[in-house]
This record gives sequence, structure tokens and C-alpha cells, in this order.
Amino acid sequence: MKGGNICNFRGRHVSVAVALVALVIFSALVWTSERNPFATTLRSAQAWYHLPTEFSAEVPIDSVGTTKPEKGVEISFLTENGTKPKLGIEGAAAIDSIRSESPDILYNQYLNSSSKNEACDYAKGKWVADSRRPLYSGFSCKQWLSSMWSCRMTQRPDFSFEGYRWQPKSCDMQEFDRFKFLTKMKDKTIAFIGDSLGRQQFQSLMCVATGGEESPEVENVGWEYGLVKHRGAIRPDGWAYRFPKTNTTILYYWSASLCDLVPLNITDKLSNVAMHLDRPPAFMRQFLHRFDVLVLNTGHHWNRGKLTANRWIMHVNGTPNEDKKTAEIANAKNLAIYSVVKWLDLQLVSHPRLKAFFRTLSPRHFFNGDWNTGGSCDNTIPLSNGSEVSQEGASDPVIEGALNGTKIKILDITPLSQLRDEAHMSRYTLRGTLNSSDCLHWCLPGIPDTWNELLVAQI
Ligand SMILES: *[C@@H]1O[C@H](CO)[C@@H](O)[C@H](O)[C@H]1NC(C)=O
Ligand SMILES: *[C@@H]1O[C@H](CO)[C@@H](O)[C@H](O)[C@H]1NC(C)=O
Ligand SMILES: *[C@@H]1O[C@H](CO)[C@@H](O)[C@H](O)[C@H]1NC(C)=O
Ligand SMILES: *[C@@H]1O[C@H](CO)[C@@H](O)[C@H](O)[C@H]1NC(C)=O
Ligand SMILES: *[C@@H]1O[C@H](CO)[C@@H](O)[C@H](O)[C@H]1NC(C)=O
Ligand SMILES: *[C@@H]1O[C@H](CO)[C@@H](O)[C@H](O)[C@H]1NC(C)=O
Ligand SMILES: *[C@@H]1O[C@H](CO)[C@@H](O)[C@H](O)[C@H]1NC(C)=O
Repeated sequence: MKGGNICNFRGRHVSVAVALVALVIFSALVWTSERNPFATTLRSAQAWYHLPTEFSAEVPIDSVGTTKPEKGVEISFLTENGTKPKLGIEGAAAIDSIRSESPDILYNQYLNSSSKNEACDYAKGKWVADSRRPLYSGFSCKQWLSSMWSCRMTQRPDFSFEGYRWQPKSCDMQEFDRFKFLTKMKDKTIAFIGDSLGRQQFQSLMCVATGGEESPEVENVGWEYGLVKHRGAIRPDGWAYRFPKTNTTILYYWSASLCDLVPLNITDKLSNVAMHLDRPPAFMRQFLHRFDVLVLNTGHHWNRGKLTANRWIMHVNGTPNEDKKTAEIANAKNLAIYSVVKWLDLQLVSHPRLKAFFRTLSPRHFFNGDWNTGGSCDNTIPLSNGSEVSQEGASDPVIEGALNGTKIKILDITPLSQLRDEAHMSRYTLRGTLNSSDCLHWCLPGIPDTWNELLVAQI
């Protein structure tokens, strides 16, 4: 949109603009005070720790205690600082095409274009065969794909799982176009924080953004985020890459629990680690202001085995947890999810351009045993258990409950991924000695590409 249009728009509808500003400020005030009694003093991440104890005690296992925002919030999302509407692509098109319309119509267009996206449930739909899939070749995207997840590099003989695309039931999802994507993400940073499935989504996004093509111009900017390999470590805690043409950065940080992890004895490599259930990872607190899109996930590390193996000791309120109820894995996980969501939602007030998503659990498909007891996923026929997701209701009531009333969106990929038991690494792992299947991680190209298509459609 050209500057002239803005002036036109401003000149003509100055009173509307003033009214909108007033409405936005008013609804933002009402909304924040309703939702969060501490919002009047916007807190920094550090100050957050000093919130009254009832704050953490209040984070319940089964309720959020917040009110769903009214429509005013949607408007505030569409205006940056009250003087100039921040327009999405649809919004901009709407303005350009109906400049001569009345202010009320303009106003309705805002609501309509934002609620259109809200209304679309990308999680419902079906898998359809598509000769234009995959979006890149597993032979070519060596620069970003770990060889352990690149099924073209293993002994796997069947690849029919690559040829499907997700078709949401009630929305038009534009065909993914990597040039459009990068243009839209100009000067923006997309961050994934989560477990190894989050890392798969990160690698997938690097591949779909480059089309799998050799891309020597893409810069490694991990150092900007402290993502460097420390001495003695197998790999860094994450990676960050920048596309110089559009100045788009894509990064991943490993945080399997979304908790702050602090070694109890820094000089001891085998020290126990304080796992602060009610405190988001330091990395996230430190760099949140640099993110434009954030995708969180957690899930598969919430079991006794992983906690013990990682020497994670649950902490709440800065001290070792002694409450038996909280110590139960499901409750600890809920506390961690509710805490990180509540913290992030509070931050969104002072980071209005950040779009935050919580990705639901990536399903496992171990049959006839578990990962360590000979479980397998040997089916190679796509969609042999159906291709459609239509069931109503939450696939993850915990995440859905935690997000309820917040501005963080759900990226619900569980049911659609559930239909794809044939698309895991399966028996063709590079592990060699371990004679077991990986029915947790996915082949790439593969299912995480679809998660990214759904993500990009909602940005
Ligand atoms: C509002 O934002 C625009 C750019 O988005 C900027 O030019 C303008 O100075 C801002 N106004 C105020 C009052 O912050
Ligand atoms: C907004 O949507 C409503 C209901 O779908 C419709 O009646 C109205 O005409 C739309 N407004 C504009 C300006 O498109
Ligand atoms: C790249 O984008 C960042 C914001 O993400 C901005 O601060 C920086 O100035 C941009 N760099 C260039 C060269 O435009
Ligand atoms: C921390 O670990 C080092 C090395 O194992 C050990 O010498 C030291 O006593 C430990 N400190 C505490 C406070 O446990
Ligand atoms: C297919 O669906 C049935 C019934 O929902 C379920 O029991 C079975 O495990 C599914 N099989 C696969 C391969 O997902
Ligand atoms: C969301 O919160 C509202 C109000 O607190 C409640 O009525 C509704 O049932 C909640 N929805 C979900 C899916 O938890
Ligand atoms: C390893 O897997 C192969 C092929 O699936 C099987 O024939 C063999 O018996 C397995 N070995 C062990 C030790 O489980």
C-alpha cells in the first residue's frame, strides 16, 4: 500500500480513527485489568519472579480463571499504536479496494478479515494425494536436514508417504509459495522452542523456505543468540539462520520441557538440574523481544525415565518441590504449560507484533511394544486408517485450556498427524546397533512440512 492511500484514508476518516483509538485503548484497559490484576505495571521477565505467591499457587491444574476477550481486542490487534492501522495482507487489500466506502464498512472489514482467520479450523480436513508434494527433495536438502531424519538417506525403500497435502475442510489454504513466504517474513524472526519434534519442524521450515536448494547465502547467526557449541557438548542448544535478501531469521532452541533449567552445581558436569516448573526458559525471556513468530511445543519428555536420565529436579517458587500432587508427572506438566502460557500472554501486551503459537503433541505410533521393547510401525500404505479428521473437541485439553482466553493460538496438528503412522523413521534408523524402530520422529520431507504449511497460513 502506498503512502498516499494512508493520507487519503487519514484525511477522510480522521474521526473514525479517533473513535477507533479510543475504543482500542478502552478495550485494552478493560481487557487487561479483567485478565490480569498485575497488568497496570507491565513487568519485565525478571520482575515476574517477584509476583505474589498466589500467582503461582493460582495457576491451577484444571482452570485458567480468565475471561475470553471481547471483540475490541481483535481491533487492538489490528492497530499498532493507535495512529495507523496495522494491516495484514487482507486488510491492506480491503483498504485499497474500498477506499470510497463508508467508515462503518471499513471497520467491519477489519473485523471480518480477522475473524475469518479465527473461524477457520485448520485441524479439520483431509489428506489428499498431490503430485506437487513433497515441497523439496530429501536428496537435496542436505544443508538443513539431519541425516538421521532424512529417509532418502536411509535404507528405506518406500516413499509414497511423501505425496500428500493437507486440505482443511472449511478454509482456503493458499498453496505454499516460498518466495511469498519470505517476502511476508521480511525483517522478521521465527523461533521454535521445544523438543526434538520442534527441531524437526525447524529443519522442515529451512527446507521449505529454500525449496531444498543449496543456499550458501543463508548465514549462520547462531552466535547472536548464544547458540554455539560449548566445549564437550555434542551440539549447540539450537541454531539460527538468516536469509540475507529478506533479512528473515529462522531459529530453534532446545527446551524439551519449556521449563527454566539451572544446573545446581555449575562446575559439576553431572550435577542435578533445577527444573523450574513455573518459570520459562532463560533463553525465551532473554530473546522474546526479537521474535515475530514463536512456536512452542512440549510433551514427550514428561515421563519419569527422561526426568531421571536428565537429572531434572522439579522446583516451584524457586525451591525444590515437596508437594506430592505437583510431583505427579501430569500435574507437573500442566503447571509448566499453564505457567509458560500465562507468562507469554502477559508479555504479549508489551510485544504486540509477536504472534505466538502452541503446537499440540506430535503422536507416536509404536505397535506391539514401546520404543524400547521392540515396538514398530511397519505399515507402508498411506492413510490405511482413513484420511479425514472431523471429530469435534480438543485433541489436547490441557493446551486448549491453558490457551483459553489468551492471545496465543493453538497449532493443532495431533489428529492429522495421527493418521500418518506410515510416515515415521520406522526401522530405517541410522542407529545401527539399536535394533529398534523410531515411531516418534518423522521422515523429512514429511509430516512436519504440513505443520509448517498450517503455521504459515495462520501467520
Ligand atoms: C505510530 O507508528 C508509526 C509507524 O508505525 C510511527 O510513524 C508513528 O510515529 C507512531 N506514533 C506514535 C504516537 O507512536
Ligand atoms: C462482514 O461479515 C458479515 C457476516 O458474514 C457480513 O454480513 C458483512 O456484510 C461483512 N461486512 C463487510 C464489510 O464485508
Ligand atoms: C533486519 O531485521 C531486524 C528486525 O528483525 C532489524 O532490526 C534490522 O535492522 C534489519 N537489518 C537490515 C539490514 O535491514
Ligand atoms: C560442585 O562440583 C564440584 C566438582 O564435582 C565439587 O568439587 C564441588 O564440591 C561441588 N560443589 C558443591 C557446592 O556441591
Ligand atoms: C486405526 O484405527 C483404530 C480405531 O481407531 C485403532 O485402534 C488403530 O490403532 C488404528 N491403526 C493405526 C495403524 O493407526
Ligand atoms: C474457556 O473459558 C471460558 C470462560 O472461563 C469457559 O466458559 C470455557 O468453557 C472455556 N473453554 C475451554 C475450551 O476450556
Ligand atoms: C534385528 O532386526 C532384524 C530385522 O528386523 C531381525 O531379523 C533380527 O532378529 C533383530 N535382531 C535382534 C537382536 O533383535
